[in-house]
Amino acid sequence: MVNIGAGTGSYEPPQTVVAVEPSPVMIAQRPAGSAPVVRAVAEAIPLGDDCADATMALLTVHHWKDLEAGIAELRRITRRRIVVLTWDQSVTRRFWLLEEYLPEAVALDDARATGIDRLCQLLGGARVETVPVPHDCTDGFGVAYWRRPEAYLDPVVRAGMSILAQTGEEALRPGLAGSRTTSAPAAGTSATPNCCARRPSTAATGC
Ligand SMILES: C[S@@+](CC[C@H](N)C(=O)[O-])C[C@H]1O[C@@H](n2cnc3c(N)ncnc32)[C@H](O)[C@@H]1O
Repeated sequence: MVNIGAGTGSYEPPQTVVAVEPSPVMIAQRPAGSAPVVRAVAEAIPLGDDCADATMALLTVHHWKDLEAGIAELRRITRRRIVVLTWDQSVTRRFWLLEEYLPEAVALDDARATGIDRLCQLLGGARVETVPVPHDCTDGFGVAYWRRPEAYLDPVVRAGMSILAQTGEEALRPGLAGSRTTSAPAAGTSATPNCCARRPSTAATGC
């Protein structure tokens, strides 16, 4: 198993032989005992053809400068299976936080999200599976706190979400202020973050 865009190694299974990650900041945070890491980008992986049984690329393809080159590299080094986890922007842009409070942040992900169809095409065909995000998800990615709305008011939580960190606090301020002052609506309506408890979970999509 080769983990591409591995970051600090979250989700890395014990079978991982090597991780590929360009950021020294992320590499420095990899726990002791995790797989050895090669500092490189997905677009130019310094590994031989067909060297891996499987590769995984979780929540990273939207960061790549050249998606086509990166997926071609995954296909070059992988013998059997490639697993990509990303989100479906047509679903996520309707997430209550973005739709009702922080529409300023939607444009960023509209521009950088990877189309599921395009990804499948570049992979040469793929099975698409929807991955529900549990309400008590311990990762801090963008939609993780869908049933814990108060978390989005915490600047430390926001700093860990590239969609909010890159949109910037200035642009988010009106929406965040609105979420603080919105009064509770009648049960079953959708004007307050709390009502997300009654909504289906937002899904990320693996391909
Ligand atoms: C949101 S983190 C995800 C990390 C890890 N896969 C996980 O799920 O916890 C995105 C990672 O992609 C890395 N990245 C950015 N550009 C990349 C590229 N061109 N090729 C490979 N990884 C890249 C970042 O440095 C970062 O570690």
